[in-house]
Amino acid sequence: MTELIVDPSQIADPYAIPIEDIDVSQPILLQQDKWQPYFARLRAEDPIHYCRESLFGPYWSITKFNDIMQVEKNPEVFSSDRDISIFDADDQMIGRRETPMFIAMDPPKHDEQRRVVQPVVAPQNLAKLESVIRGRVEEILDSLPIGETFNWVDKVSIELTTWMLATLFDFPFEDRRLLTYWSDVATSSPELGIGIPGLTQEGQDQALDECLAYFKRLWKERAAKPPSDDIDLISMLAHGEATQNMPDDEYLGNLILLIVGGNDTTRNSMSGGVVALNENLQEYQKLRDNHALIPGMVSEIIRWQTPLAHMRRTATRDTELGGKQIKKGEKLIMWYISGNRDSEAIDRADEFIIDRANPRHHLSFGFGIHRCMGNRLAEMQLRIVWEEIMKRFQNVEVVGEPVRVMSNFVNGFAEVPVKLTAI
Ligand code: HEM
Repeated sequence: MTELIVDPSQIADPYAIPIEDIDVSQPILLQQDKWQPYFARLRAEDPIHYCRESLFGPYWSITKFNDIMQVEKNPEVFSSDRDISIFDADDQMIGRRETPMFIAMDPPKHDEQRRVVQPVVAPQNLAKLESVIRGRVEEILDSLPIGETFNWVDKVSIELTTWMLATLFDFPFEDRRLLTYWSDVATSSPELGIGIPGLTQEGQDQALDECLAYFKRLWKERAAKPPSDDIDLISMLAHGEATQNMPDDEYLGNLILLIVGGNDTTRNSMSGGVVALNENLQEYQKLRDNHALIPGMVSEIIRWQTPLAHMRRTATRDTELGGKQIKKGEKLIMWYISGNRDSEAIDRADEFIIDRANPRHHLSFGFGIHRCMGNRLAEMQLRIVWEEIMKRFQNVEVVGEPVRVMSNFVNGFAEVPVKLTAI
């Protein structure tokens, strides 16, 4: 039985072990930022790679850009039903409980439920949201200390994304940190020691029950009122034809999807951008010299960070992929983090280049019917953040070693110590 590796000195040199023994699912590879050579070797030598034994059972790794696209484009053969990460449904994100959500459904149910919430990210709604977001970004950035060390993750990335979610749900503002907490709870796996330290299975269940109870209260209030034009996901769900009679577990599942979907991802892009610019100072200078590079840079940050390292599909029948025989029921892990570094699909993929041509050509939002519903919203948020940062700060300097999250799914940061210099 494979063990969870927690000691960085136990990370093997990927070129010193037989290729069949490579297991890229160990969360420590992302946490220690040691994943790159593992995936480089797989892309070069065995791009569709079978791992017989891991903490998560046997799985296929799909590591090249075009092979990932093949899987994404073929939802009939590569299903999202129930399982969308390397964890199996029984102990996946939400502990042992069954929490259906449309990201983990196939058509037609997926399409029906997605259609209900889609309007929240329609262009006219985004336009409405832009000034609201900008106002909040200004407020948060203006409150930051100059010349003092603080954790960017907590004071900026979490604060902003949480506030944004509270707006989308019309969630009581004073309780907004609960959203962050529930997102962290949902992506923890207590049995494997992944996520919130010390969280037990009972603690996880209890927190999710509280989350459901809280949202049911909001649901009742909103369902009693006529539908309005406001940006409010709960009202949309309460009045949507495909969702108004959802059972509790499905309501909880879809809430968790929207909370996690809009939380960890954008949060880690905000932190990842600061880290990437500090590691590539010539790019930071390019940005100072030309703020018009911000929209393209935002896409490059999202590619570079790849906030969700993978998504999973399950084969619905025996099939062939890139010359490999995949059997019905086997799990396929699409490693976006690797496809985004595939130099056959992306020019100089291993370099962070803020003015690259075609910067939206990346896999961080997935592709096909499940392509991230919030992609334009996330890009808008990040664009506004960087526009406002550049108006205020000459330098956001990383002054200590960033601390990364222990996960093979969320590629993110717990701490990024920074010091600001005003313009
Ligand atoms: C940089 C930020 C973000 C990243 C990197 C990201 C990434 C992803 C990925 C990889 C998927 C799955 C794609 C696939 O299976 O092909 C996804 C789906 C989804 N995302 Fe995002 N996401 C981000 C922001 C957001 C935001 C802000 C929201 C909030 C509205 C959101 C809501 C969703 C939803 C609802 C889905 C499910 C779509 C479906 O199954 O049809 N995401 N996202």
